[in-house]
Amino acid sequence: MVKIVIENMAQKEVTGKAGSSALRLMHENYIDWMHACGGKGRCTTCKMILISGADALSALTEAESRYRLAGELAHNERLACQAKVLGNCTIRTPEAYKLPHQTYSG
Ligand code: FES
Repeated sequence: MVKIVIENMAQKEVTGKAGSSALRLMHENYIDWMHACGGKGRCTTCKMILISGADALSALTEAESRYRLAGELAHNERLACQAKVLGNCTIRTPEAYKLPHQTYSG
């Protein structure tokens, strides 16, 4: 069992099976998270900001490496549809990708 804490959703805890993508875990926990391309690694709207636990995520995928090289994915950012969660981590929703109907605590 792994856990993602979403800092700016009032420390909401998302739990699930190790090895699932962060996006999948959010959906399994009924959390809405932007994912414009449907989780195919072709946009960056599912971006999450890592606060802690970078080691708890799988290595960058090819898609993420491409965005990183292009300067569209900072060193502390991952794509929720690409990063598999292998341990516990804390993240934030980026300002630009907050959903209008979702409540945020910061
Ligand atoms: S949903 Fe488009 S890259 Fe993740």
